[in-house]
Amino acid sequence: MKKVLPTSIEITKASASKIGQVDFENLNFGKIFTDHMFICDYEDGVWQNPKIVPYGPLTLDPSARVFHYGQAVFEGMKAYKDDQDDIYLFRPDENFHRINKSSERLAMPAFPKDFFFDGLTALLELEKDWIKPGFGNSLYIRPFVIATEAGVQASEANQYRFMIICSPAAAYYSGDVNVLVAEKFSRSANGGTGYAKAAGNYAAQFYPTNLAKQDGYQQIIWTDASTHEYMEEAGTMNVFFRVNDTLLTAPTSDRILDGITRKSLLEIAKKEGISVEVRPVKVSEIIAAAKDGSLKEAFGAGTAAVISPIGGLGYQGTHYPIASQENSYATRLKNALMNIQYNKAEDPFEWRYKL
Ligand code: COI
Repeated sequence: MKKVLPTSIEITKASASKIGQVDFENLNFGKIFTDHMFICDYEDGVWQNPKIVPYGPLTLDPSARVFHYGQAVFEGMKAYKDDQDDIYLFRPDENFHRINKSSERLAMPAFPKDFFFDGLTALLELEKDWIKPGFGNSLYIRPFVIATEAGVQASEANQYRFMIICSPAAAYYSGDVNVLVAEKFSRSANGGTGYAKAAGNYAAQFYPTNLAKQDGYQQIIWTDASTHEYMEEAGTMNVFFRVNDTLLTAPTSDRILDGITRKSLLEIAKKEGISVEVRPVKVSEIIAAAKDGSLKEAFGAGTAAVISPIGGLGYQGTHYPIASQENSYATRLKNALMNIQYNKAEDPFEWRYKL
């Protein structure tokens, strides 16, 4: 896709960079942020005054709606550097559309496309040294919108702030994750906000996930709220199962996040000739497959997680380990995806966006 013309963005540079203090070999996901951030405010019905300022704390009224009613949405994207030091984003138009879809669900105003792309481009231009070359290195980009209007009336705000902050990243999970299949708690329900990247969707997972962690599981695979009979998604990832040689994943719905990694993997898998079924996936069929050995693999997929192999499933008090596979689909798909993201392979889908 083509870049749009630059919006006028006021830039105030940080007096000194923190980059020299960062240990890029030992990054913890989302702990360190770059020198600058992009800000744009919504007032009087208009997004206005886009600017880049040194990264730092915000001053907000304690009654700002975001603190009381959770009007907040976000996105997760990454910038990659290839061997020629060229910088790429991956399908950024998808993130742009999704943040506005999320905002709409939370009665928040849509953010303009030119501000989104020009703000992102200007910010990454300033922070390009933070994007390290090398497979697996990236700059995680977190656009988000919060309701800033003061006042605790339980209705949508009239003032908002859109921001982009950036954090150098390596893999989100290292090694296999163990996941617990939800039997009691739910992440989302029909007609709810499950498809939106709403902050509250994540907050509501922390308590059940903490309980799961006490039993040795890093994440929960959420099941449908009404019956808990169908696999839906994990906390920070969509989930895939390989039964024999077929890859299964749940269809998106108003309960499930329309993951960009998820939909990209589906296209790559089809192109690679892997048999794919996008259909409701019964917990019982996956547990039966785990028992009879036909469950060859399970993995999560997301921007932060990329592809994270699942080493075992917990269900009804039993742990079902999943042995790692030679030539796994997870590795095959991850390599194909990352080769596109890092400009190491052809991009037949035209997903790369060169900055
Ligand atoms: C992402 O993959 O970008 C996510 O949103 C996961 C995040 C909650 C860590």
